Amino acid sequence: MAGRKGNTDQSYTPLGTKAPTWSSPQATRRRNIDNFFNPIEQGDKSLRLSDSRPPQKSKAQLDVEAAATEARESQRLKYKAQAGASFFSSVEGGGNSLHLTSGRVCGQNNPADRSPESPSKPVEEQPVETEQTEDKNQDARKESLTLPLEGQTSEDETKKRPKKEGGELGGDEMRGLLYSNVSVEEPSSETAQNRLLIKGGRIVNADRMFDADIYIEDGIIRQIGENLITPGGAKQIDAKGKLIIPGGIDTHTHMEMPFMGTRAVDDFYHGTKAALAGGTTMIIDHCLPQKNQSLLEAYEDWSTRAAERACCDYSFHVGITWWSEEVKKEIEVLCKEKGINSFKMFMAYKGLFMLNDDEIYQAMCALKEQGALALMHAENGHLINECCKKMLALGITGPEGHELSRPEEVEEEATTRAIVIANQAQCPLYIVHVMSKSAANAITKARREGKVVFGEPIAASLGVDGTHYWDKDWSHAAAYVMGPPLRPDTTTPGYLMDLLANGDLQLTGTDNCTFNPDQKALGRDDFTKIPNGVNGAEDRMSVIWEKGVYTGKMDPCRFVAVTSTNAAKIFNFYPKKGVIQIGSDADLVIWDPNATRKISKDTHHHAVTVNIFEGMVCHGVPLVTISNGRIVWEDEQLHVTQGAGRFVARGVHAAEAYAKILIRDKVRVPQGVDREAYDGPVWNSANAPANNISKSAPKPTFSQDRPSTRHGHRDLHASGFSLSEMGPRYSGNQVDDNVRAKVGHKVLAPPGGKTSIIF
Ligand code: URP
Ligand code: ZN
Ligand code: ZN
Repeated sequence: MAGRKGNTDQSYTPLGTKAPTWSSPQATRRRNIDNFFNPIEQGDKSLRLSDSRPPQKSKAQLDVEAAATEARESQRLKYKAQAGASFFSSVEGGGNSLHLTSGRVCGQNNPADRSPESPSKPVEEQPVETEQTEDKNQDARKESLTLPLEGQTSEDETKKRPKKEGGELGGDEMRGLLYSNVSVEEPSSETAQNRLLIKGGRIVNADRMFDADIYIEDGIIRQIGENLITPGGAKQIDAKGKLIIPGGIDTHTHMEMPFMGTRAVDDFYHGTKAALAGGTTMIIDHCLPQKNQSLLEAYEDWSTRAAERACCDYSFHVGITWWSEEVKKEIEVLCKEKGINSFKMFMAYKGLFMLNDDEIYQAMCALKEQGALALMHAENGHLINECCKKMLALGITGPEGHELSRPEEVEEEATTRAIVIANQAQCPLYIVHVMSKSAANAITKARREGKVVFGEPIAASLGVDGTHYWDKDWSHAAAYVMGPPLRPDTTTPGYLMDLLANGDLQLTGTDNCTFNPDQKALGRDDFTKIPNGVNGAEDRMSVIWEKGVYTGKMDPCRFVAVTSTNAAKIFNFYPKKGVIQIGSDADLVIWDPNATRKISKDTHHHAVTVNIFEGMVCHGVPLVTISNGRIVWEDEQLHVTQGAGRFVARGVHAAEAYAKILIRDKVRVPQGVDREAYDGPVWNSANAPANNISKSAPKPTFSQDRPSTRHGHRDLHASGFSLSEMGPRYSGNQVDDNVRAKVGHKVLAPPGGKTSIIF
């Protein structure tokens, strides 16, 4: 054992990956290595190491292990036999759909493995879903409960992971974080059930691709490298010829959201199940308070809903749907105590969620104060209201009226306005669901001017267009109704993909908010009553691969960036997620770039009965999805546990959003002018208010006698005021000025002057 320990160090060398925040990296690493091979003594919960001899095993134990090894070996050979051609050769050579056969995973469905938030809730009661493989799953559960693995002590000693990851971060500790601290748990010899070894794949991170094996234990990536030395009992997956990518992160969902007189049909269970089947392992959902509802109350309600049903990890954006001092205080609590760092506002949905510009500005100032990110639904709600009336008056009541009443420029105008307001508040801004070329151009322009703004196109805007609103079949057309609408300009999806590929847009979500045809039919006589929302959570990854990578617009690294990494960075949970590196969560996908799949409502895993991508054939198929170290999707079968998903708490001041802004706060402070006090005559407004000068009023000291220009402005060329009368230090304030005109500035602390930036 001692000799093996010496060799294992190599296998821990991350291949160019940077280890996350370890508590004393060297020491921890050493402990981890020891820990893998030295079982903890029975009953000893501390990490005291026993001597290096393997524990004595009973004959029964050895028999079970031998049987399990045999089963694993035959499984491995099966995988190997079916492994396909390499990514690049096959992309050229066309599709090649290969599927891994189903394999059992020790403990993957074992309810005893879960980390119940409340001990009073018996874990056995948690529904475990395996589609079409109920019996197999039963076996897997049994196996996981009875098969003692190396290093395992007893079932009741199974280490429970805290349900709320990062929940212990609170108060001031949440502040000032650039990237979230990732504390890596010790691999526990007590829970040897969740060991996976992925062999032979090509790892794709946002920065590079490389070939290496991955060893996972207890939901964490423990080793990356070649010829890894790993403890026994790990399930092996042969990923030869496949890519291994970080699990997708869907930045924008509305699971079970009550909206427009009904409730989204994909709840946290169905929605996350569908996401996992499509290679997405984390969602950021929207918790939207009703008008005048406490944000904290809404947050608690949403937390309960997600905790009960979500099958994958999740976090929340909280909505600012009304504005008051109370809301401001609650934002602070949410940031400091609840792990929320992003807040969504609406410029549309007048009378429901919409805020006015002054409220948006104040809210953004409050977010800036906390180090949070402002999310914006950017459409001009006032205009939409008027245009809807106009369309209905014209007799246009069908789904096409939805697009006609909120055309591109309505989205573009609001996008630009949001950017201006955010820039004034010096708050980073994130435009959700970018649906049009002109809105995307507005974001691009702002970014090139140096403004801190991010753009999120969604699967729908990248995959389909708005011509569907003109479909003769009402139900078909209504299925695509969402706000902002898809655009009838058929070049829009390709254009948005170009911008996403080249970096002008940064990441992707789905806005998954699904309604069945009978719910959409609430608006059969009036398009304004059609519940807004479409699907996307399951298909986003494949649609983006098909339209982005398969077309040659982006490479696999950029694909990873826009489907996962950038989300983790912008929302501040990188490198916990969004990257395959030692210490990160084992959320990954074995991706077959050569296989194809046809999207259909008949095979998808959503609760909704329609699919806006119906019939689309996509290259790029998730063969295996691993969520927190467990295989949850394999061989086209789901193995999910309702409620297994954990809340991901996020700290404020994400580097991606705030690094530049914090510097600007130091170097771009507005400076007043140091000047002598004015001691000249002052207009007596009691005699003649400036805005009501009548001929009979006494003449002001300085008057404008010349006529205005034809636009009603003062003609400065013809102005009769004299600077010399005022002296060189004074500007030419005139009676028709409400604000002071520009003066020659004497800048006390010019930009670039003294700063002391502390991050
Ligand atoms: O149509 C949409 N987008 N429905 C969900 C709510 C929203 O605006 O994001
Ligand atoms: Zn929206
Ligand atoms: Zn939305």
